[in-house]
Amino acid sequence: MEKKLQNQVAIVTGASSGIGAGTALELAKAGAVVIVNYPFAGSKDAADVIVSEIRADGGNAQSYQCDVSKEPEVEKMFADTVTQWGTVDILINNAGIQKDAPFTSMSLEAWNQVLAVNLNGQFLCAREAIKEFLRRGVHPERSVAAGKIICMSSVHEVIPWSGHANYAASKGGIMMMMKTIAQEFAGKKVRVNSIAPGAIKTPLNHAAWETPEALQSLMNLIPYKRIGDVSDIGKAAVWLASDDSDYVTGATLFVDGGMTLYPGFEDNG
Ligand code: BGC
Repeated sequence: MEKKLQNQVAIVTGASSGIGAGTALELAKAGAVVIVNYPFAGSKDAADVIVSEIRADGGNAQSYQCDVSKEPEVEKMFADTVTQWGTVDILINNAGIQKDAPFTSMSLEAWNQVLAVNLNGQFLCAREAIKEFLRRGVHPERSVAAGKIICMSSVHEVIPWSGHANYAASKGGIMMMMKTIAQEFAGKKVRVNSIAPGAIKTPLNHAAWETPEALQSLMNLIPYKRIGDVSDIGKAAVWLASDDSDYVTGATLFVDGGMTLYPGFEDNG
């Protein structure tokens, strides 16, 4: 079978769990060498499980610790990856956290932590990736683009979310950063897009699906009537990273079972 990302090098941030882990597995299946980034020592084992799974399947991967909110660590991750694997072709800008609180009791610390990882982290990684894409230029035997960035956004780049002002602000910020750098570097054959997942079954949102009652109530928000799987996102990421989507840049692909279709209007309004 033709592998759409054969030998391309992909860094997936926050790949030790959830959507990042699922995306790492799908990229590896498509032939990419995957750098499975994890944030701190405590998540190394989980990252290594993903690496082992990829290798057992005949793929190539390496785990790498880096806190994406720390500039020197991000610079080092990209430099080490280029030394080890020659270049970086694909960045999955995925690492993200939630620190929820009602707005009037949200601490500045909770605000800053979420913005630091979700938005600053994506900025720092995108900057290093684009520098490498520009240095290397286009090599058509790898891809007709110089490089591809996929920013993991959320339906909350457009849906306001009470009690999650920091998270929603970070995702709204990602949307405009993504579009701006897509505009800035399109002429250099760099493609930048976002995926906006809806409710995907991961540890991050366990409260939304772990009891039958919670899952039932979640279904009111999902016209397609099922919770998403991480592979739903991984497959979309493979498409956006491959030359099949070569004419797509500056776009947000909503992978949400219709969550952004205003389901409240189905029998109201
Ligand atoms: C959040 C999840 C939430 C989903 C839909 C995602 O961005 O991380 O916690 O379930 O949006 O509301």
